[in-house]
Amino acid sequence: MYVGIDLGTSSVKMLLCDKNGRIINSVTKEYPIYFPRDGYSEQNPEDWYTKTLEGLKELTAGYGDKIKGLSIAGQMHGLVMLDSEDKVLYNAILWNDSRSVKECDYLNNTIGTARLTKMTANIAFPGFTAPKILWMKNNKREIFDKCRRIMLPKDYIVYRLTGVFASEPSDASGLLLFDVKNKRYSKEMLDICGITEDMLPAVYESFESIGKVKKEICESLGWGDVTVAPGAGDNAGAAVGMGVVGKDMCSISLGTSGTVFITSDHFSVDSKNALHSFAHADGGFHLMGCILSAASCNKWFLEDILDTKDYSEVEKATCDGENHVIFLPYLMGERSPHNDPYARGAFVGMSMDTKRIDMMKAVMEGVCYALRDCVEVARAQGVVIDEVRVCGGGAKSNIWCKILANVLRVRVIKTNCTEGPSFGAAVLAMVASGEYESVKAATETLVKVTDSIGYDEGIAQKYDKGYEKFQNLYKCLKDWYKK
Ligand code: XUL
Repeated sequence: MYVGIDLGTSSVKMLLCDKNGRIINSVTKEYPIYFPRDGYSEQNPEDWYTKTLEGLKELTAGYGDKIKGLSIAGQMHGLVMLDSEDKVLYNAILWNDSRSVKECDYLNNTIGTARLTKMTANIAFPGFTAPKILWMKNNKREIFDKCRRIMLPKDYIVYRLTGVFASEPSDASGLLLFDVKNKRYSKEMLDICGITEDMLPAVYESFESIGKVKKEICESLGWGDVTVAPGAGDNAGAAVGMGVVGKDMCSISLGTSGTVFITSDHFSVDSKNALHSFAHADGGFHLMGCILSAASCNKWFLEDILDTKDYSEVEKATCDGENHVIFLPYLMGERSPHNDPYARGAFVGMSMDTKRIDMMKAVMEGVCYALRDCVEVARAQGVVIDEVRVCGGGAKSNIWCKILANVLRVRVIKTNCTEGPSFGAAVLAMVASGEYESVKAATETLVKVTDSIGYDEGIAQKYDKGYEKFQNLYKCLKDWYKK
């Protein structure tokens, strides 16, 4: 049996499955996220580890001796810094934190986007790791000086579980310290950030074995010998879990963030840098657009604003392209394609006859329009996107999937495992343990299409008009946000 872990932003989700992909058990453990100031977003790495261990105990109770392999997919870009005694020096600064605006300006304007792209295949966004390292250097010098190891969230868990300081290309791509094309660190970029390569984990392929879970941990969990693969960034992990590997496939994740993930068997860069150019967990590459708030908009509107946990209410919305309310989903600023840390959410167009359901629907539509912004960037470069596989909390909503299909003019495909990243992680563990010879071979056997939702041309045309309004609204507010 295999364990797949998804170290997410709101919780760690774990599943146990057999080599045929049959899910035996799953466990979720939540942990807090801290927003100490507007634009700040942090978590305590110790919470991740404690909750992961707690979850693994529950997950595998009664199956301990059957577990062969484990791997992990995790929230990307988070900055974890350890001192010479491996103590965490500061809360992890997360992927949706925008404090490093000045550092991004320095990287994009003084170092320059052309040079950054040459070194790392990407430009600076506040969520990426390198600008946060510079922020630490500029604002918390005493911590920066004590730092001996820098790692990504899931690599911290791997380090605690195995003692091996390891990462892999899909997550390393989002550091902005990694030469994606050649899959090695960029010495030039490390110099710019004032760090050295020995402070960073060694990079293996996502599906390689890097060693075993520590003996004392295995004993406490009742496990035998468990092989560990370094895993993937959560989006690459989700793509693997949905069989989005090889070339020319597309997946969308409607999680806390929303991502459009396009696979490729060769390295390429978006000429405008609006999409990220990253390595994939199958050994290939991918382009990705990331919107910072997706299913989190729905959660925020329902739980924080309407004070309800009844998500079934949104299913009463109709997918008809008619809504006088427009919602901009930029609650944490926006990454792709605007790179605008100042943007915030907006509801516009309400009248006395606006109902609660119109606003709920506007939230789902606004998220789909923001994803369309990313899809259109890819389409403008000749990428054909007519079919997308979906995962994440939002993908559980039928109405949201229908709206997505119509807003993007695509066929939305669901697969047998909606767990996405954790299932992808389990697949990587299977490959590392020798159960399958490649990620592609594994997904061809394990991933099955279970449902598909098409679009209606008439409704899609109405959504085209809504999309135009959405784009115009952001243009109207852009300068106001900045002021
Ligand atoms: C991707 C990104 C997010 C996080 C969410 O670039 O920042 O999707 O990985 O967990």
